[in-house]
Amino acid sequence: MAKGIVIYYSRTGNTKEMAEIIAGAMNGADLPTECKSVSDVKAEDLLNYDAIVVGSPTYYGHMAGPVKQLFDDTVSFHGKLDGKVGAAFTSAANIGGGNETTIMGIIEAMLIAGCVVQGDPKGDHYGPVSIGKPDERVEKQCARRGRRVAELTKKLTI
Ligand SMILES: Cc1cc2nc3c(=O)[nH]c(=O)nc-3n(C[C@H](O)[C@H](O)[C@H](O)COP(=O)(O)O)c2cc1C
Repeated sequence: MAKGIVIYYSRTGNTKEMAEIIAGAMNGADLPTECKSVSDVKAEDLLNYDAIVVGSPTYYGHMAGPVKQLFDDTVSFHGKLDGKVGAAFTSAANIGGGNETTIMGIIEAMLIAGCVVQGDPKGDHYGPVSIGKPDERVEKQCARRGRRVAELTKKLTI
């Protein structure tokens, strides 16, 4: 059976909150999904999942160092994430604070690895963005993204 993982880095809890909502929605859409801090994940673990969702706070318009390190560590099995579903999300302090570039950086790494990343024509296009602590809008975006990742993953793993 297909399964997913939501991986996050979070110092003050905002990105973690988003991760938990996304993972909850994926489980609710019948894709068994774990939710883990990046410190509890080794790159090789990613091979065990069909959907990989990664969230990072926006740090100077980029993903945080530990998240980048996780991607860098996948080089030892480059090509083996090909065809898995990927998605990204971020929390930042400011509108225009570099949140979409952070998400795009994560998505770029996923595309290089061969992951399938779905945009969203009606929700946050590249992935959920929170400004500070997730509010009701962000909660809806996270739940929506989790459902969409689960649905796509189930379609691709029949
Ligand atoms: C080193 C560092 C760099 C940051 N850079 C930015 C930034 O470029 N733009 C921004 O809007 N917020 C920036 N922030 C704020 C965080 O992205 C924001 O507080 C985020 O919600 C923290 O997520 P967390 O609660 O999951 O740790 C930065 C914070 C730190 C600690």
